[in-house]
Amino acid sequence: MEVLETIKTRRSIRKYQTTPVDDRVLEQVLEAARWAPSWKNSQCWRFIVVRDNKVKAELAGALISNPSTEAVMSAPVVIVACAELGKSGYHQEKAATDKGDWYMFDVALAMQNLVLVAHSLGLGTVHLGLFDAKSAANILRVPDGYCVVEMTPLGYTDQEPQVRPRKELSEIVFYDSFGKR
Ligand SMILES: Cc1cc2nc3c(=O)[nH]c(=O)nc-3n(C[C@H](O)[C@H](O)[C@H](O)COP(=O)(O)O)c2cc1C
Repeated sequence: MEVLETIKTRRSIRKYQTTPVDDRVLEQVLEAARWAPSWKNSQCWRFIVVRDNKVKAELAGALISNPSTEAVMSAPVVIVACAELGKSGYHQEKAATDKGDWYMFDVALAMQNLVLVAHSLGLGTVHLGLFDAKSAANILRVPDGYCVVEMTPLGYTDQEPQVRPRKELSEIVFYDSFGKR
């Protein structure tokens, strides 16, 4: 698939078939994440591949009134993205900008790579942020110095969701200064 077509045809998938995901396919989506750019190539991301139904059910319990709770339980795989803190956005152990720790940014780049390659391989995903990150970290035994950023179910889709509309370019693009069209 051409990149722009892949970007435009990806949808958030909240219903999955139980068909397992082949290890080689899983490796390809993880490769896509691994090759994302990051602050000074610091690669603060860590990925936890969850296949155990008990762990998936526990993770689903950490979701906060989330339309994707069922998806976390039923998808064959859930990928949880964690970050090592104090690496991205840092230079010589100090925050290098006034924007603090950039871990969210780097993990988002990796996870967007992952979901796009998953889609190009015929798999569904949905970025999930609405959960109790501390509960998720406890469930997955994430050590101090790391946090859980997001998770996505991964599997073959069992729905064809509607396209969610996007703002027009004329609403979001300015020229030379903010607000100038
Ligand atoms: C950072 C982030 C967090 C999100 N968290 C959730 C979530 O917790 N639960 C959920 O069902 N969808 C979640 N979504 C999916 C968005 O609702 C979805 O991407 C948006 O409505 C656009 O739909 P589309 O992905 O099908 O184009 C999240 C998306 C992003 C980028």
